Amino acid sequence: MTFQIRIASSNAVYDVPEDTSIVDVLRENGIEVETSCEMGLCGTCKTRYFEGEPEHFDMILSDDEQKEFVLICCARSLTPTLVLDL
Ligand code: FES
Repeated sequence: MTFQIRIASSNAVYDVPEDTSIVDVLRENGIEVETSCEMGLCGTCKTRYFEGEPEHFDMILSDDEQKEFVLICCARSLTPTLVLDL
């Protein structure tokens, strides 16, 4: 599913197409984010979110962490927009 991300610090909104990761969309728009595995295994890309409900595909976040953070190399969104603390 295509969804949108909003960058909390700038209010910029970007579309995340079906075949593109959140990280790739950020990079395409000049926002550098640190990653390592890009497979949901290492946690390097862990990012806080403020609004929306991520669809988590990582292997490492606890249930509590998933309520606050999202691994943006592999997550999608269940809501039309996900607001990231970037
Ligand atoms: S880069 Fe390793 S979990 Fe996202």
